[in-house]
Amino acid sequence: MLMRSLLIATVIGLLGAAAQAHAAGGARAASPSQQEIDTGRLIYQQQCAACHGVKGEGKPGWEKRDALGELPPPPHDPTGHTWKHADAMLYKTIRDGWRDPFNKTKRLTMPAYKDTLSPHEIRSVISYLKTLWTPEQRRIQREEGKRHLFPPEAR
Ligand code: HEC
Repeated sequence: MLMRSLLIATVIGLLGAAAQAHAAGGARAASPSQQEIDTGRLIYQQQCAACHGVKGEGKPGWEKRDALGELPPPPHDPTGHTWKHADAMLYKTIRDGWRDPFNKTKRLTMPAYKDTLSPHEIRSVISYLKTLWTPEQRRIQREEGKRHLFPPEAR
């Protein structure tokens, strides 16, 4: 009888630990560590700020195409639309670069970072961008993007 209750207690204990680990994993996915955000901020200042602005304010007139049909770098702060994209899309944009399909040129106006940044560095810079959004924008992005998360290599 004692053995049996011990066994049950152990099983309950293990289940509890698993649930806690799961909750911790979920929390980590939802809120990155301060270290990850600090790494992302540094990368942003070194690699992105020249185009997207020191505070993520973008280039003036970013919504207007130039003579080549190209769009200037948009803001990442609450005035832009970065927050409307799911993690998977933001990751892909930074890894592979991006040009608006309407551009008359073929060049990537948003450079590809796959040879410059590791998957975790790309993720860190996105975690930093999220700190520029309003709590409401963060909530919507998390809710609407929950089926389009970071790819496995960045988890
Ligand atoms: C040479 C200038 C330049 C640099 C450097 C640059 N970007 Fe961009 N980025 C752009 C341009 C231009 C666009 C818009 C392209 C378009 O829509 O045609 C863009 C678009 C984006 C978008 C999509 C935003 C949206 O709302 O659709 C993200 C995300 C992004 N950049 C992140 C970054 C990050 C992170 C870095 C640094 C690792 C970076 N960019 C570095 C020029 C740049």
